[in-house]
Amino acid sequence: MSIKISPSILGGSFSNIEKVILDLNKSKAEYIHFDVMDGDFVPNLTFGPKFISNVRKFSNKVFDVHLMINRVEKFLDDYVEAGANIISFHLEINENIENIIKKIKKKGVKCGLAIKPNTPWSEIQPYLQYIDQIIIMTVEPGFGGQKFMYDQIDKIKNISSHIKLNSLNIDIEIDGGISFETGKICVEAGANILVAGSFLFNQGDLISATNVLSDKFN
Ligand code: DX5
Ligand code: ZN
Repeated sequence: MSIKISPSILGGSFSNIEKVILDLNKSKAEYIHFDVMDGDFVPNLTFGPKFISNVRKFSNKVFDVHLMINRVEKFLDDYVEAGANIISFHLEINENIENIIKKIKKKGVKCGLAIKPNTPWSEIQPYLQYIDQIIIMTVEPGFGGQKFMYDQIDKIKNISSHIKLNSLNIDIEIDGGISFETGKICVEAGANILVAGSFLFNQGDLISATNVLSDKFN
């Protein structure tokens, strides 16, 4: 199975986003990860649909949009129109999860569900039949550059064996604190997509850092 890399632009500078995206276009990353934060679901603010639609003009990569927001249903269409290819939202929001999944799928966009470190994996089980991707957070959502939470490995293993056992077609994406070392542990536990932010951007050369991470698993 091939392992996909989804670089999180949160690790880069928004003042030079065109350069970041053009570099990622040249890299082996299949996806680009967009962390949307509303200062309400998480204690930080990033960007909204206009930013994503502006960036869309620079890239044909898969736009992997991670919504860390409340009121997902209200803003959903804006992210679809902005050019998201995959929209993931959090299971912990106070909205009708099934309705939102159906709405996303109806637009022809892939749907993911994300879970925070304290959310047991069993809570996502009722929705697995409808979704394309699960994001297992290995940091508390809100900020890049945090330490990987090793206590989430069992969750990855449990979800992965459940998916295999039931022959479900769902990608397992891991988000937070990914490096060579932690990425390897996640892949061994069953992950097939790795989000990486600060680890890639802190290496100096974004293209080669992304390629080295990709080559390590492929
Ligand atoms: C955290 C975000 C992550 C973050 C990852 O809330 O969802 O995508 O950007 O950044 P690193 O790789 O630095 O943990
Ligand atoms: Zn993310």
